[in-house]
Parts: sequence; structure tokens; C-alpha cells
Amino acid sequence: MKTVVITGSARGFGLCQARKFKELGFNVVISDINEANLEKALAELNTMGAEGTGAISVRCNVTDHADLENLWNKATEAFGSVDIWVNNAGVNSPDKPVCELTEKEIAFILDVDLKGAVYGSKVAFAGMRRQGFGQIYNVEGYGSNDAMMTGLTMYGTAKRAVTYFTRSLAKESHDLTGDKVKVCRLTPGIMITDFITHANGDSTTIELPEKTKKVYNILGDYPETIVDYVVPRMIANDKNDADIVWLTGARAFSRFLTAGFKKRDFFAENK
Ligand SMILES: NC(=O)c1ccc[n+]([C@@H]2O[C@H](COP(=O)([O-])OP(=O)(O)OC[C@H]3O[C@@H](n4cnc5c(N)ncnc54)[C@H](O)[C@@H]3O)[C@@H](O)[C@H]2O)c1
Repeated sequence: MKTVVITGSARGFGLCQARKFKELGFNVVISDINEANLEKALAELNTMGAEGTGAISVRCNVTDHADLENLWNKATEAFGSVDIWVNNAGVNSPDKPVCELTEKEIAFILDVDLKGAVYGSKVAFAGMRRQGFGQIYNVEGYGSNDAMMTGLTMYGTAKRAVTYFTRSLAKESHDLTGDKVKVCRLTPGIMITDFITHANGDSTTIELPEKTKKVYNILGDYPETIVDYVVPRMIANDKNDADIVWLTGARAFSRFLTAGFKKRDFFAENK
């Protein structure tokens, strides 16, 4: 039986991935800094999934290298090896221009979104190189493709760097493991999760402007929809440096084309 480790998986996209992997026959290791959510998520995962699959939870702050090493160790102690490792944990920007961000806010985004992915990849790569196989996925986001917007500069900086880092690590993996360890990207598009309205470790609420809501209503999706598409493709992937993309240019184009006929409102009062 195969095993997946997902960081930041006590809610949102990470938890939805965990559910889907378990449904498709994987043991799942969920991890997060939010221990209350982690406990709830594990209880749920223990009641579902393909027969014989297991689940454990490990508290892990992705900015702490020792926590990530502990996550690898706990996962391999429980299930023997790790087939897929997803660096999913991430935080949003407080929607302010850089000149109005505090030093702490800047450090927080870079620490979680960039350093977290780098440390997570490093630990997973070292372990997978030893075991001789595995896939690492880093989650891309706004800015990964060079898009720019006031309020998202620091988030975009981190995600753009994650993309460069992931591709360069894939090259290292080609040289060091002959592509036995696959270092890949996961590009989910816009997801309707707590992420889009929260920043600074959930202590700051973001008021989305009407025009942003309009775009999210056209291009966004619940993470449950996205995992149905991406998780089977992650499992089937056999290429180093792959990019598993939900919101492709073609999908975005067709959404704008049909937006007049298919009205969606993720932000309606009774949602
Ligand atoms: N929601 C979107 O529109 C969107 C779009 C593109 C990419 N992403 C990326 O997808 C990933 C998941 O986003 P989401 O929408 O599910 O967000 P979310 O806020 O719902 O979930 C993120 C989880 O990460 C955890 N976390 C935060 N800091 C952590 C840390 N230091 N260590 C460990 N866990 C930590 C949180 O507690 C939370 O459970 C992130 O990397 C995000 O940047 C999100």
C-alpha cells in the first residue's frame, strides 16, 4: 500500500487531497500547526477511505526543519516508506502594498510559503533519495506564472520562487537520482477555502473587493472538485518536473466564455 504525506492538511486543499488519496487506496499522513483541526481531520479520515488504508497525524510547523524531519520519521515508522510528499502548507498576504506591510508580516509569508516549501522538499528529497523512489509536489499559486497585483506582491514573490526552486530541484534530481525521485508542481488555480479571506495566521480577515469576487466566481472552484482531477493524475504521474494543472488557459477561457449563462456565487449569504 502506498503512502502520502501532506503538510498544512488539517483543512482546505490539503485535507481534501488527504480524503481523495485515502479513497484511492493510500495511507495518509496529515500534518499542520493547528492541532485542534488536525485532531478533527484525523477522526474523519479514520472513518473513510479504501479498505486497509491507515491515517496518522503529526503536528508540524513547516518553518521548522526539525519538525519536518520528525514528520518524515513518523511517516516511515508508521508506513515503511513515502511515495508522495506534498508541500501544501501556505498563508495568504494581508492585501496591502509592500510599503504598508510590517517586517513581521513580510517575514511570515516568506517563512511559511517559501522556506516551508524549501525545507519540506529538502527533507523529503533526502529521504526519497535514500529509499530510491518518490514524488514531491510543491503547490504553486498567484505569481508562479509571473502575474502581478498590488496586495499580492509578497505572496507572488514566494510562489514565483517556489516554482523556480521546484524546477531547479527537479534538475538536481535528474543528476543525482536519474529521475527516480520526481520533483513536481501542483497548480490548483483559485480555490474557495478559508485561505482567500484570511491572513497572518488567520488573525486578519481580508475583505474581498466586488471585482475580485466576480473573478473568483468565474474561475474559482471548491477544493473537492479540484482534487477529483489532480490527485489521480499525481498518482499516475511518472515524469520528473511534471506540472499538474487544474486551471489551464483553455479552462479559464471557457469559463469566461460561458460566465453569462452559468451564474455562480460562492459568496452568497447562505453559502
Ligand atoms: N485558496 C486558493 O485560492 C489557492 C490558490 C492557489 C494556491 N493555493 C495554495 O494552496 C495551498 C493550500 O491552500 P488552502 O486554500 O487550502 O489554504 P488554507 O488556509 O485553507 O489551509 C492551509 C493550511 O496550512 C496550515 N498552515 C499554515 N501555516 C503553517 C505552518 N507554518 N506549518 C504547517 N501548516 C501550516 C494552516 O493551519 C491550514 O490548515 C497553499 O500553499 C496556498 O498557497 C491556494
